[in-house]
Amino acid sequence: PVLVVDYGAQYAQLIARRVRDARVYSEIVPHSMPVEEMLAKKPAAIILSGGPASVYAEGAPRTDPALFEAGVPVFGICYGFQAMTVALGGTVESTGKREFGGTPLTVSEECALFAGLPERQSVWMSHNDSVTAAPAGFTATASSEGAAVAAFEDRERRLAGVQFHPEVAHTPHGQAVLQHFLYDIAGIAPTWTMSNIIDDQVALIRDLVGEKEVICALSGGVDSAVAAALVHKAVGDQLTCVFVDHGLLRAGEAEQVEKDYVAATGIKLRVVDAAEHFQRELAGVSDPETKRKIIGREFIQIFETVQRELKAEHDVEFLVQGTLYPDVVESGGGTGTANIKSHHNVGGLPEDLRFTLIEPLRTLFKDEVRRLGLELGLPEAMVYRQPFPGPGLAIRIIGEVTPDRLEILRAADAIARAELTAAELDRSVWQFPVVLLADVRSVGVQGDGRTYGHPVVLRPVSSEDAMTADWSRLPYELLAKISTRITNEVPEINRVVLDVTSKPPGTIEWE
Ligand code: XMP
Repeated sequence: PVLVVDYGAQYAQLIARRVRDARVYSEIVPHSMPVEEMLAKKPAAIILSGGPASVYAEGAPRTDPALFEAGVPVFGICYGFQAMTVALGGTVESTGKREFGGTPLTVSEECALFAGLPERQSVWMSHNDSVTAAPAGFTATASSEGAAVAAFEDRERRLAGVQFHPEVAHTPHGQAVLQHFLYDIAGIAPTWTMSNIIDDQVALIRDLVGEKEVICALSGGVDSAVAAALVHKAVGDQLTCVFVDHGLLRAGEAEQVEKDYVAATGIKLRVVDAAEHFQRELAGVSDPETKRKIIGREFIQIFETVQRELKAEHDVEFLVQGTLYPDVVESGGGTGTANIKSHHNVGGLPEDLRFTLIEPLRTLFKDEVRRLGLELGLPEAMVYRQPFPGPGLAIRIIGEVTPDRLEILRAADAIARAELTAAELDRSVWQFPVVLLADVRSVGVQGDGRTYGHPVVLRPVSSEDAMTADWSRLPYELLAKISTRITNEVPEINRVVLDVTSKPPGTIEWE
């Protein structure tokens, strides 16, 4: 792999993704990892990320000079560029010339990094200190007003660095610069493709599972669907999928899992229809947290029962989970290379239900999982599905959850989704909850008569990761169409309102 050494910047994940966009596999490692350990991973190259510290600040992370003596190509970015300079004997100074944001860069020398790119270009900078002298053996190849040395390279030793951030979209030629490093300086071939990933994973999973049995819980979401499809490709009918239908899904979603998914994959599916059960448990409850607790508790119980039955029937040993790379990185799980890790007590499973976990998506980002899903032949509607909360529509009905209310909300939600898709905005909008204010009524007029119906709230949001969000500025025409259709087609609803709150202070869901 290419290792991206994280110096504490929010950019490390972005760098890893850009490297993968160049079809080269990358992994993030913490800067505290000893050099021997990095080298033990046999990296094709190492990229040092940006970071918030000044190289001269007390306790600032240093780069071990041994890193540059192993013959492994290294690329320093921003802080990594300066740390590399210091480690190799160049000079970093606090010149008082800070640069933040789009900055003109001048390329002064023939070089590999900027080959074929314009001599003057805009790059994204974010630095206080600057490199004023490149280390011995390096050629300084570019500069900006505030950075005497804004890029350097030593082709002999396959080392290079830049002061700016090539990984951000605000550096228009950034991807080209990164690829020049990967392909031309480090000599790496772009061979990391979805079909290679599938082949590798299939071989690994077959090897691990042998003749044994595997189960997987499908949630209706993208991750579990792709993980199961991959495992199915490897072991076929040794995999059984379980889908607990809690009756709180949106229109067409249970059918999508039961029909489209099975048709596309041929997976053996056990559907547990638990709608009535959940309905009974939720009767009379309107407090949001109580709803969530009930749903979580019942879900685990039902799933455990099925697991126990299946385990007794087939002696199941493995459980598939759709864990993604950001979760692995965030939980400090370090490297993604171990695709399969052993686990004993998954998500609160009782001791007598021991499974070995298979997590075939542990090394992938969400957009890569989507591409993998398409490559595996899953329907686009499933692969590009927006995130949907586990407790489902229960937390989008403000008030008690009843079958009637679920039906009303499903109808309104289906209209909003269909119109968003027709306007081709479903992939740019992160999520589009429709919320039924079931205990609120307002007066309206329709046809010749007075109505006294319920409002629904449209809550379209844009977001990167659901941690923060902004309300989506949907075109008025589209909002008008959704409003007209909902009030015409869903008799119980006589008012449609738009939520214009960002997160924070609002959350995405209303409960
Ligand atoms: P909030 O409402 O907290 O939601 O801004 C953030 C993101 O999480 C989703 N969400 C959930 N997902 N189980 C889930 O799997 C849950 O209980 C749950 N609650 C909220 C929400 O849809 C949004 O994407």
